[in-house]
Amino acid sequence: MSQNKKWWKESVVYQIYPRSFMDSNGDGIGDIPGIISKIDYLNKLGVDVVWLSPVYQSPNDDNGYDISDYQEIMGEFGTMEDWDRLLDEMHKRGIKLVMDLVVNHSSDEHAWFMEARKSKDNTYRDYYIWRPGTRDLPPTDWVGSFGGSAWEYSPETEEYYLHMFSKKQPDLNWENPSLRNDIYSMMKFWLDKGIDGFRMDVINMISKKEFLPTYEEYKEGNPTPLPYQFNGASVHDYLQEMNREVLSKYDIMTVGECPKVTPDQAELYTAEERNELNMVFQFEHMSLDKQKGKQKWDLKPLDLEDLKQNLSKWQKQLENRGWNSLYWNNHDQPRIVSRFGNEGKYRVESAKMLATLLHFMKGTPYIYQGEEIGMTNVRFPGIEDYQDIESENMYQERVHELGYDAEEVMESIYAKGRDNARTPMQWDVSEHAGFTKGTPWLKVNPNYPEINVESDLENKHSIFYHYKKLIELRKKHEIIVYGRYDLILETHDSIFAYTRQLGDEMLLVINNFYEKETEFELPSSIQFRSGELLISNYEDHIVSDLSNFTLRPYESVVYQLKK
Ligand code: NOJ
Repeated sequence: MSQNKKWWKESVVYQIYPRSFMDSNGDGIGDIPGIISKIDYLNKLGVDVVWLSPVYQSPNDDNGYDISDYQEIMGEFGTMEDWDRLLDEMHKRGIKLVMDLVVNHSSDEHAWFMEARKSKDNTYRDYYIWRPGTRDLPPTDWVGSFGGSAWEYSPETEEYYLHMFSKKQPDLNWENPSLRNDIYSMMKFWLDKGIDGFRMDVINMISKKEFLPTYEEYKEGNPTPLPYQFNGASVHDYLQEMNREVLSKYDIMTVGECPKVTPDQAELYTAEERNELNMVFQFEHMSLDKQKGKQKWDLKPLDLEDLKQNLSKWQKQLENRGWNSLYWNNHDQPRIVSRFGNEGKYRVESAKMLATLLHFMKGTPYIYQGEEIGMTNVRFPGIEDYQDIESENMYQERVHELGYDAEEVMESIYAKGRDNARTPMQWDVSEHAGFTKGTPWLKVNPNYPEINVESDLENKHSIFYHYKKLIELRKKHEIIVYGRYDLILETHDSIFAYTRQLGDEMLLVINNFYEKETEFELPSSIQFRSGELLISNYEDHIVSDLSNFTLRPYESVVYQLKK
């Protein structure tokens, strides 16, 4: 069933984080006219779809993931006319537009919340989740994702509201059918304007009733369920309802951000016959470089075998049963070349290797802005140079409350902080990397004179052209989209290799994950008559015998084999 051909399976998606992409008016903040000025660049890269992180009205406590009006554009980003023009210009060039849908929570400045907090019998009260406590003791001891209690006291009615993220992001109550209907109408507003889908923020957190103890239960010493229980009992009912009421009426793509989701759960969200979502973002491979049971800040080196096992598990378990999204980066993750690659001497080789490794897997690949030129993490001198609420709160808590060493905490931020992904896009060698004529809201990575779009476009062997070629190959070879995946050389300690198969065609994808040279030996079970090189990250890759050859640092090659 899941082998049905669909445009979103054949697409490559490019994520834009608008605040950091391109500033057109010199206020230091990226904006919609700035994006419009770069559509030709995206077209040159060849991407099919753009996922635009939130551009809705927001007080920016969490950079637009706290929405105060779902049907207005944030003033800093432009106007609705600018947005209409963006959609139009993208569609003219055959690029689709997917918008972010942030409906686990709104901003506390949303009209619904401003009403809800006024009184217990307000029409909008039940749009949010309220519990009594005492003045000093919240309903449960839950901690929110950005630190501190997940409950905030609201003096007007002397009750607490739930916020799994910052206190300016109150959680919406999906139990309430009026809230659901209002959300569906809002979704139709955007779909009727002609957008091509939604990326749904933490969508597997919207059903939480059974995880919320009443204050009485909590007081009586019953074990409190932990916060962050995902995939609550009603989530599939809500998504099926949303699909019936809204999604099924349009030819669109949907991807749900689902922290902590397992392949079995992902299948429930993405199996075609269940009519929920097209695919999810899972996070297991993003947790392999943290200590088990600890937070992402508690670092641990990646073990290649874990990565191979993990990605292969997702490939196999969703095969013919659901659909995978493929990503290394987004606005919440550090830069992949710094994280799993080599940001120094082998930046170009390792960035290309990681790209090939991901793009030849089965699923829809996502490229995050700047990944296509191998942008790296950043090391600003002090916490005052950082803007992200998550990093700032963690720093305060660890350094000032828990007594961690400040330098050690900065190392965690250098490795994992979200601002690594959010430094402005590096367009050229001019001041502030050509991102703005003003002062950027977040400093530019000082390596922009070496790493920028302009120089990548001038060099036909750049990372940019490698990504472009990966996208072109996907359009030419159906096997990249629909072929079966199998891991080979499972226990090899430095090669990540796999095959794809469709009919009598086979692709052999071979990646040396490390700097050290290593020997590749073709498993004897793979028989073929001829082999043609499809892509490699060294210009002079020539081997006379595919059954055995040496891979140079981070060398990555893909062969098309004919039986
Ligand atoms: C996930 C988003 O990707 C992240 O940036 C945001 O902070 C949280 N959800 C809350 O909306």
